[in-house]
Amino acid sequence: MSEDDTKDNKQGHEDGETRRDFLYLTAAAFGAVGAASFAWPLIDQMNPAADTLALSSTEVDLAPIEEGQSITVMWRGKPVFVRHRTAKEIEEAKAVDLTVLRDKQADSDRVQEGKEKWLVMVGICTHLGCVPAGQKDTDVKGDYDGWFCPCHGSHYDSSGRIRKGPAPTNLEIPEYTFLSDTLIKIG
Ligand code: FES
Repeated sequence: MSEDDTKDNKQGHEDGETRRDFLYLTAAAFGAVGAASFAWPLIDQMNPAADTLALSSTEVDLAPIEEGQSITVMWRGKPVFVRHRTAKEIEEAKAVDLTVLRDKQADSDRVQEGKEKWLVMVGICTHLGCVPAGQKDTDVKGDYDGWFCPCHGSHYDSSGRIRKGPAPTNLEIPEYTFLSDTLIKIG
């Protein structure tokens, strides 16, 4: 075998490998597209229809929540804070002069009549959407005995109203109704 033949063989071998690599990659790419187009209808079927989502509601049993405790429930994909406020927290919330508030709302506008110990709010900071701390006893509650968003330092009071930091508005109060003294339906 001449030196040229050896070179040709080597060249052919390299070409072959390159082509195989290309075929392999192409097949893999088609494989991925195939899998994606197969998976999508399944994923799409798993998504609830928009109207189902809009109507969905969550019932929360308040009986196990002791004074000074909070729980977080999920409602329409969002965390909702349910707090059994202490007498001190209610006093503090009511005593605030509304003129100092950025988003002026009386505590009585954020709770239901006769049920002021229960504060129910969407637990999403109105600045850029972090979940504020303050649900656990050991959490930092900010300068106003409520909730504190560590992302950029927003402080909410014991009524969930913005008091300091960049958040523009109070924590949102969702629609909810009392089905009994110890059962609420959110949504
Ligand atoms: S997201 Fe809460 S302070 Fe920015």
